[in-house]
Amino acid sequence: MLGGGLETKAVTEVYGEFGTGKTQLCHTLCVMVQQDTLVGGLDAKALYIDTENTFRPERIVSISDTRGIDPRKSLENIIVAKAYNSAHQELIIQEAGSVIEDNHVKLILVDSAVAHYRAEFLGRATLSERQQRLNKFMHILVRIAETYDLAVLVTNQIQASPDAYFGDAARPTGGNVVAHTSTYRIYLKRSGKNRIARMVDSPYHAEREIVFTLSERGISDVTESR
Ligand SMILES: Nc1ncnc2c1ncn2[C@@H]1O[C@H](COP(=O)(O)OP(=O)(O)OP(=O)(O)O)[C@@H](O)[C@H]1O
Ligand SMILES: [Mg+2]
Repeated sequence: MLGGGLETKAVTEVYGEFGTGKTQLCHTLCVMVQQDTLVGGLDAKALYIDTENTFRPERIVSISDTRGIDPRKSLENIIVAKAYNSAHQELIIQEAGSVIEDNHVKLILVDSAVAHYRAEFLGRATLSERQQRLNKFMHILVRIAETYDLAVLVTNQIQASPDAYFGDAARPTGGNVVAHTSTYRIYLKRSGKNRIARMVDSPYHAEREIVFTLSERGISDVTESR
C-alpha cells in the first residue's frame, strides 16, 4: 500500500479504534527499520516514544524470532523513551537531536501522539490550548523528519463516542491539527480476525485498502502469515 515503505522527511499518521494494531505496527517497524536496505530496512535504529506504556520488549523478541532476526540485537537498536505527560513528550522530542545523530536513528514512533493531550485538556474551554500545544508538537516532528531525513509515524486513537468538537465519530482525535501536519494518513479497522488499512490522505498514493493480520510476526500480509 505504501509502495516501498514509510517515507522519510515525512510524518505518517495511523489512526483507528483500540486493538486495530497501531501498537503492533510500531513494534514491527522498529524491527524492520534495522534491516538492510536490500530487504526494506534503513540499517538504522528506532526511537520509540511510548506515551501509553504499551511498549513490550517481549513483542520485539517474538517479532524478531519469527523473522529469523537476532532479538537481542533488535532490542539494542530501539531507544525507548517513556513520556509521562504532554510536557515531557514535548521535551523528549525537543531534545531528540543529539540522540538521533549519535545513534543513527531513521525512524521515530510516537505511540500515541495525542493520548496525553486528550487526558490533560478536558472540555471545550481548553480546546484551543490543546490544539496549539499539539500543533507545536507536530511541527517539531515535521522539522525533525526533514532535518535528519528520517521517517516519523504517529498513532492516534478514534474516540469511542462522537466527539462534540469535530462532529464525526469516525474522525481521529486531535482532528485537524494532526491531519494537517501529517503527509500520509492511514486508517486501520477490524475485519473479522484480520485488519484493514486504508490510505486516506496521500499526495501521490491512490486511496486503496489492504488486508493484514496480527500475529507473532507482528503485522504481516495475509498470505505471509502461518
Ligand atoms: N502475539 C500476538 N499474536 C497475535 N496477535 C496479537 C499478539 N499480540 C497482540 N496481538 C493482537 O493485537 C491486538 C492489539 O493491537 P494493538 O495493541 O496494536 O492495538 P492498538 O491499535 O494499539 O490499540 P489502542 O488504541 O488500545 O492502543 C490484540 O487485540 C491482538 O489481537
Ligand atoms: Mg496501542
